[in-house]
Amino acid sequence: MPYAIAAAGPGGPEQLRRIDFAPPAPGAGEVLVRHTAIGVNYIDIYFRSGLYPWPQERDLVPGCEAAGVVETVGDGVREFEPGARVAYVAANGAYATHRVVSAAQLVALPDLVEDSIAAGAMLKGLTAYYLIHDSAPVSDGDTVLFHAAAGGVGLIAGQWLAAKGVRAIGTAGGPEKCALARANGYGDVIDYRSEDFVERVRALTGGAGVKAVYDGVGAETILGSAECLANFGTLVSFGQSSGAPDQFRISHLARGSLRLTRPTLFHFTAERGWLERASAALFDAIRAGEVRLHIGKRRPLVEAAAAHADLEGRVTTGSTVLVP
Ligand SMILES: NC(=O)c1ccc[n+]([C@@H]2O[C@H](COP(=O)([O-])OP(=O)(O)OC[C@H]3O[C@@H](n4cnc5c(N)ncnc54)[C@H](OP(=O)(O)O)[C@@H]3O)[C@@H](O)[C@H]2O)c1
Repeated sequence: MPYAIAAAGPGGPEQLRRIDFAPPAPGAGEVLVRHTAIGVNYIDIYFRSGLYPWPQERDLVPGCEAAGVVETVGDGVREFEPGARVAYVAANGAYATHRVVSAAQLVALPDLVEDSIAAGAMLKGLTAYYLIHDSAPVSDGDTVLFHAAAGGVGLIAGQWLAAKGVRAIGTAGGPEKCALARANGYGDVIDYRSEDFVERVRALTGGAGVKAVYDGVGAETILGSAECLANFGTLVSFGQSSGAPDQFRISHLARGSLRLTRPTLFHFTAERGWLERASAALFDAIRAGEVRLHIGKRRPLVEAAAAHADLEGRVTTGSTVLVP
């Protein structure tokens, strides 16, 4: 029986319950996908907890990335046929055995990229892509700071930065996560639970600071992140796993003529050309071995609540994948 994991209202992980449903037929321009693997992301927690606005419908089915097989296609869909292997990024609805997705959001999966890798890498890998190519583009010889370096986005970004010749300094909570980040592209990793990361970045850069800081942690790091930047550096605030970084003020940028950007992946993926270019670059990097996906844990889809508790509890590394 097709089923989804849904929350009837905002709250903790215990809100997530199994509900059975009959998958609808795809409309014009849509495709019915049978999921084989689903990625878990921090944004799923923001929606489930009510931090992000609750969608119109009563039950929220979280989940923004998955891989699977096309079952049926709606009118006008020519790019995908039943049986094709596909993956996508699309807001909410992925924690389910089946989902109707717009064909414009799907990409075909190359043979060499297996489903669970794609499900764990689409949202996080495309995020890592835009962060280092679009939001604060960096190249050979630059030095950057990346917070939560042992997390889903962090482990992919570290490898990609290293492949580009960028010196990446990471932060992570605890010695095991620091070791993992070091093995995934970060030349230096600071345990920001026990060390002052601002002081350490200054020391590691001879006082100069870094060209860009990628900050997905938010409240606990944002002010220190600005202090780590060299003059004219860019602060990319792309998440808030420790809470909203609302204490940040424009005046904080004055210390070094800094730039601040607050990007969201969905604005990039809405442009089909960008989605094709970025996912091709991601799959190429995976095929070339430049980016190896670290799946910290695979769980049955019915264990979505436990997966959320782990991610919020800071005990995960890399990507978590749910299997229907
Ligand atoms: N804007 C976008 O387009 C976009 C897209 C994708 C992801 N994101 C953001 O990127 C960040 C990383 O996402 P992800 O899915 O890969 O998650 P993740 O990094 O695997 O998990 C979050 C990590 O944040 C760190 N953290 C620091 N303080 C925390 C706290 N108080 N509570 C919980 N965690 C805390 C933890 O690592 P340590 O234990 O090492 O501190 C934790 O493992 C998230 O903020 C997410 O919202 C944004």
